[in-house]
Amino acid sequence: MSNSEDYQLRVLIQQETIEKKILEVSKQINEDYKGEEVLALSVLKGGVIFAADLVRQLTMPLQLDFIQLSSYGVKKESSGDVQGLSVDHLTIKGHHILIVEDIVDTGLTLIKLKDLLLSKGAASVKIVACCYKKEKADASLVVDYFCFELGDDFVVGYGMDFAQKHRNLPYIGVMDERKDD
Ligand code: IMP
Repeated sequence: MSNSEDYQLRVLIQQETIEKKILEVSKQINEDYKGEEVLALSVLKGGVIFAADLVRQLTMPLQLDFIQLSSYGVKKESSGDVQGLSVDHLTIKGHHILIVEDIVDTGLTLIKLKDLLLSKGAASVKIVACCYKKEKADASLVVDYFCFELGDDFVVGYGMDFAQKHRNLPYIGVMDERKDD
């Protein structure tokens, strides 16, 4: 595990930029779901801060629920082995589900989750992600809405962690390796 001495944080996306982008994206979501009731499904833990900001801009009748998934552990690469994928606590059948995710990297997590929700009778399943590593993600996954397209940098803050740290940062940052002088 890295020590705080091994890297320094650099701001990639400012808090104000995130706020503005969320207003833009939520406007589109409000348009698209006009007249529908939505189940917003926040993916824990990383998606929770984005979800808290996003759902307060959504105007349709909405339920908010949570699902805990993880494919990372303390590494910076997705293991592809999505753990804890259980949706038994959710009422899925007939619901329009909007998955709210912090970041889509390989997309493996959401491919599995989306398939599962559809197999349990969801009326529709869409995805909104704060960050989307589009070039890296599996092309078969449709990310319906996203705020920021990123390259392959590992980012932290605004809910996203490295080894459970930095979720509380109000901005999205990059961990630069500290170089010895
Ligand atoms: P995927 O299944 O590879 O798309 O992984 C998605 C999950 O991995 C996200 O919900 C995050 O928890 C985590 N993740 C992916 N990329 C990053 C990153 O750059 N920083 C922090 N967490 C990440």
